[in-house]
Amino acid sequence: MHEFKYKGSELRCENVKVADIAKKVGTPFYLYSRKTLVDHYQKLKEAFKEVDPVICFSMKSNSNLSVCKALLNEGAGFDIVSGGELYKAMKIGADPQKIVYASVGKKREEIEEAIKRKILLFNVESVPELVHINSIASRMNRKVDVAIRVNPNIRPKTHRYITTGKKENKFGLDLATTEEIFDNSNRYPNLNIKGLHVHIGSQITEAAPYIKALKKIKRFIDSSRINVETLNIGGGLGIVYSKERPQTAKQFAASVVPILKKMDVKVILEPGRFIAGNSGILVMSVVYVKETEAKKFVIVDAGLNDLIRPALYGAHHEIKPVMKAESANKEKVDIVGPICETGDFFAKDRRMPELQNGDLLAIMSAGAYGFSMVSNYNARPKPCEVMVSGNEFFVVREREAYKDLIKGESIPGALK
Ligand code: LLP
Repeated sequence: MHEFKYKGSELRCENVKVADIAKKVGTPFYLYSRKTLVDHYQKLKEAFKEVDPVICFSMKSNSNLSVCKALLNEGAGFDIVSGGELYKAMKIGADPQKIVYASVGKKREEIEEAIKRKILLFNVESVPELVHINSIASRMNRKVDVAIRVNPNIRPKTHRYITTGKKENKFGLDLATTEEIFDNSNRYPNLNIKGLHVHIGSQITEAAPYIKALKKIKRFIDSSRINVETLNIGGGLGIVYSKERPQTAKQFAASVVPILKKMDVKVILEPGRFIAGNSGILVMSVVYVKETEAKKFVIVDAGLNDLIRPALYGAHHEIKPVMKAESANKEKVDIVGPICETGDFFAKDRRMPELQNGDLLAIMSAGAYGFSMVSNYNARPKPCEVMVSGNEFFVVREREAYKDLIKGESIPGALK
């Protein structure tokens, strides 16, 4: 469920008319519902209450400071993948003891900073990384808590770019190597090898692959007799973009909690999309309607630089008019951006009400991997981000200006 609903013919976010916000801030812009964010976080918390997990919101899905702060206020921790995300988490006053850090390519400065901040766990993805963290910790005279990211070789049904737990993926370590690491933990005197981490992919709509992965891990722990204090079961819960019927948080918990309870571990979850996905939309304006021999194109003022999911994954997002049309006439159109790429589309052959220049459209389910994947391609300033809370809205990130496009650039004397 989410808080983007029509009242009469007008789309609202909570109690605020989307069109009113557009009038104030221009288009394109991202719009987040605080209530939806919080509701989704609470749903997961409630569903898993028996095991009282640390819920680390996956910042890669949306690292807007206000989005993260809204979740921090509910008690969320954070799953980070870079020094930049750590920096942002620290800016909002996140509790380092609820921060977990995954990534196959953590660099020295990033590791040092995370050690300094005393984060909860590094999710380690390779032996060289383990050696590296150990030596940095030794130099800093510290003992650091780590979990080993396991690659369980499981294939969930999702887009091939977002499966992460198959053996040909770059993530995590196989079980044999993991066992060897635990057995030889004395090689890493500056590390406490405390736990396991598993994340099998993203936009997974059913419990079966999770159950398979967890059972595999339970068998592994039992047979290897390693001492596992924390188990991070990753994120990946799928959401509704169109006709998906993903498991609810309750159903998901009902199938995995019984397995977790048998393991006597501290549970960590890392949801991103489940919390943020349906909490945000991208609002844009129609610039032109162009008819060719083959097609009718609705050209909008957002492009693939603003939301790359359709271009990158062929992802389907519902697109709704901010003002429902009087006439029920529908026609098939391609909704495309202004970018110089044929891949710059948001919908193909989509049945839409008749549209005109200036009409506002909302791309739904854009709260996760929307703004966080924005670029300046075609020298386009990044859109602004707005959050609604009840009857009010706030610009939580300003629209970039042209001067931001040249920030840090300079022309050397030799060119003058
Ligand atoms: N934990 C780890 C280690 C991850 O790699 C990810 C996502 C998550 C948690 C959060 O997954 P979520 O709950 O959001 O599914 N850009 C793609 C998704 C990439 C996901 C990368 N890893 C998209 O737009 O669909």
